[in-house]
This record gives sequence, structure tokens and C-alpha cells, in this order.
Amino acid sequence: MASLTIRKLDDAIRDELRLRAARNGRSVEDEVRTILREASQPGGLPARHPDVLTDAAPRSRPEAATGQLRVTLIIGGGIAAYKALDLIRRLKERGSHVRVVLTRAATQFVTPLAASALANERCFTDLFDPQSEFDAGHIRLARECDLIVVAPATADLMAKMAGGHADDLATAILLAANRPILLAPAMNPLMWNNAATRRNVAQLKHDGVMMIGPNAGEMAEANEAGTGRMAEPTEIAIAAMALLRPPQPQTLAGKRVLITAGPTHEPIDPVRYIANRSSGKQGFAIAAAAAAAGAEVILVSGPVELKDPPGVVVKRVESARDMLAAVEAALPVDIAIFAAAVADWRVVSEGAQKLKKTGAALPPLVLTENPDILATISKRAGNRPPLVIGFAAETEHLIDNARAKIVRKGCDWIVANDVSPATGIMGGDSNTVHLLTRHGNEIAVDSWPPMGKDGVASALIKRVAEHFEKANS
Ligand SMILES: Cc1cc2nc3c(=O)[nH]c(=O)nc-3n(C[C@H](O)[C@H](O)[C@H](O)COP(=O)(O)O)c2cc1C
Repeated sequence: MASLTIRKLDDAIRDELRLRAARNGRSVEDEVRTILREASQPGGLPARHPDVLTDAAPRSRPEAATGQLRVTLIIGGGIAAYKALDLIRRLKERGSHVRVVLTRAATQFVTPLAASALANERCFTDLFDPQSEFDAGHIRLARECDLIVVAPATADLMAKMAGGHADDLATAILLAANRPILLAPAMNPLMWNNAATRRNVAQLKHDGVMMIGPNAGEMAEANEAGTGRMAEPTEIAIAAMALLRPPQPQTLAGKRVLITAGPTHEPIDPVRYIANRSSGKQGFAIAAAAAAAGAEVILVSGPVELKDPPGVVVKRVESARDMLAAVEAALPVDIAIFAAAVADWRVVSEGAQKLKKTGAALPPLVLTENPDILATISKRAGNRPPLVIGFAAETEHLIDNARAKIVRKGCDWIVANDVSPATGIMGGDSNTVHLLTRHGNEIAVDSWPPMGKDGVASALIKRVAEHFEKANS
């Protein structure tokens, strides 16, 4: 490419380019060349480096782009700072992205390395850090989040906040913030009850700052007890989530939902198995959405690398036969959603020992059909769930195959998705689905736009809730 002229870029993209170029020490033109070169490589653009404060997520509500809520966690210089490390994990396991800031005093109690390792990205300690401050990174840290949590909030940090100080990174962020702030105070009971602290707490509450704790109990100092212990990390994480995600309408309260997810592994011998590329992400997202809507959720999952969604009972299984047994054990349920990619076949006789190369003939792998979990449950005489939903993963003739499947299996709804490699759906984070619903002999097809798997899950659970609401009215 001899020369490069790009006009009419929108402001956000131009800013992003300028910032990326500055960070990488390149001219804007070179940065564009680099981006184009990377995009033309197999696999396209690499993921953005997470420790960079200059990503192009929308400046105002960044979670809108990723679906992930962002917390800036400020760790103050108190003995309870070690618990803030656990808080990072508790926030992350609830699906938040956590950026950590340590005050200078906090680094006396916990190391930036430990905080970075738990947050999976660099943490921030210095207001005058040229790496992050070339574009006023403290303002970004204050704004590019949905919530700021201060834990432990020391007496000193609260005094500075109440007085409007901004002489270090933490206080500058707190003064520049336009996001909700949650403090978890922690200090000796005498400090907590001191008239100055009482004044500061009253002032901060008046300013709209929220607080959790402190709790009463034993103090770190020997033989001291009273009010001043930092709230437990789980309590803080729950309070943070309640602020981030206002309670969702409990549209499936009282309903029991069974969901399957992931692939199955069909053993060949003790070390080998037949599998497929299912990641389980869609089924796990549906389980999380059903639990958030107030349902009692049992998730039967094949082998996947995903964490249990909060509030969901997870049964981990290996093979299709194990999955069917776990599904049958979970009945009765009101709703069964079969999102797992169950292997159609298994090896007739699994080798008791590892198969060996003999140099002669290849070992014969004779296959037999696995039980059809969707059809078995759809056609059950007793305990058939009132609503049975299957998934159709097809690589051709998607709607026709899904129509045939809904009839053949005897289920009520089918979520059909095209899993051809080019779609990136298998293992990816987004999905494009068609919902087929059976009304007597009629099958309605509703095509949804491309969405994240979380979006598909919420939309499906919404439809399920509407279905029951209609049935009850
Ligand atoms: C061992 C030790 C433990 C401390 N624990 C606390 C504490 O729990 N809460 C508190 O408010 N201050 C505590 N302090 C005092 C703070 O470290 C000090 O006020 C510091 O300036 C607070 O810094 P910050 O504003 O960055 O949080 C402790 C000091 C020491 C030496």
C-alpha cells in the first residue's frame, strides 16, 4: 500500500486510533497499517490487551458493548486489604470485569502483583503513571465502569473523600466519578466511633455515597471487639451486584426448569473418547437467565470449562447415557430445555484397556445409536414436562430440518441455529437463532436477529414466561 488516506472517520474511532497510536508509539497512519495488517492475518484482529485504558468501548455505559458489568475496585490501606483480594474473585465469579486501584498505603498490606493476578490485568497505583495518564487515565477509571467499590474504606480515605481531596489516584478517581460509589469501611471501633469519622460518614451519606458495614465482631488487634470489621467479601459482592443489576421481575418464580448443555464424551477406551465442539455457553446462559427470573434450575452439563451459574444446581456428566439418567432423575419439571449437543452414536464395546497399535489392522470402531434424550422426554407417558424445548444445530436446510425435527421428536418448541464453521456459533459468544413453536399442526417460525448467547438466553426465557402467563390467563 503506497499511501493511506482515510477521511470522515467518526470522532470515537478517530480518538481510539489516536490513543492506540500514542500508546504503541506509532503515527496514526502506521497504527492503521498495523490494524489492517493484523486483520488480514488468519484469525483477524487480536483481542484488545486488557490492561489498556484506551479501548474503544462506548465511554458512557461500557457494559452495553460487552454485556459485562465493570467495577473499579479501590483498595485502601487497612488490615482488611487482604480480604479485598477475595472480593476481586467474588465480583468476577458474578460476571463482573474488575479493575483494581491500590492506594500507596494499600500496597503495604497486599501487593499489586497479587491484585493483578486475581483481576487478570494490571492494577493501578499511581496518579502520575505516564503509561495510563497520557490520556487522563484516572478520569477513565472513574467513568469506564458501572460502579466504584472502595474496600476497605479506611478512616483516612473517607476523610479525604468527605473533604474533596484528590492528591492520589484513588481520591482523584473518587472525586472525578459520575458512577455510584459503594464503600466498605473497616477500622478499629474507636476510629469508627471517633467524632471526625462520624462527621465524615454523615457527609458522605449526604453526598449519596453508599455503604455496606462495618460489621460488629472481633478485630485484628488482640482482645478488641466492636463495630469496625469490614463486611465479608461475599456480602460486598452481593451488595455491588444488587446496585449493578436492579432486581429482575421474577417471571418464573415457582417453576422448576431442567436444562442440558455442552457436548457428551463417548468413551472408546479409558483414555480416548468421541466428542463434539459444543462449548456449553448457550445452555449455561439459559440456566443463568432462568435462575435470574426466579426459577429453580437444574443444569445437566456434559464436560465443559464453564463455572456453575449462580443459583443453579449443576450436575456434571460425561456420556449421553449418563445425561439421560441425570435428566430422568431431575423430573418432574415444568420446563425442559435440551441445549446439549448429545452424541448420536457411541462405540459398541468400550475397550477396558487402552487400545494399542498392532501394526496390523486398524481397531474396528463399531458404533451404536445413543438414547435420544429429547425424544425420550417429549414422548414420556408420565411426568412429561408441560413445555419441552429442543435445539436443532444444523449445517444446511436449517428451517426445514428444524420443522421435521419438532414433529419427529414430539417436542413443543425448537431453537434452530446454523452451526456451520463459518458462523462461529460453536464455541463462540454470539448466536443467530430461529424459534419454532408448535400450535397443533401449525409451526410458527420466529427469526431473531444475531445476538450474544446471553441475549438469546434472556429472549428465550422471556418467551417461556409469556407462554406460561398466557396459559394461566
Ligand atoms: C498495621 C496497620 C493496620 C491498619 N489498619 C487500618 C484499618 O483497618 N483501618 C483504617 O482506617 N486505618 C488503618 N490503618 C491506618 C492506615 O493505614 C492509614 O491511615 C493510611 O494512611 C490509610 O491510607 P489510605 O487512605 O490509602 O487508605 C492501619 C495502619 C497500620 C500500620
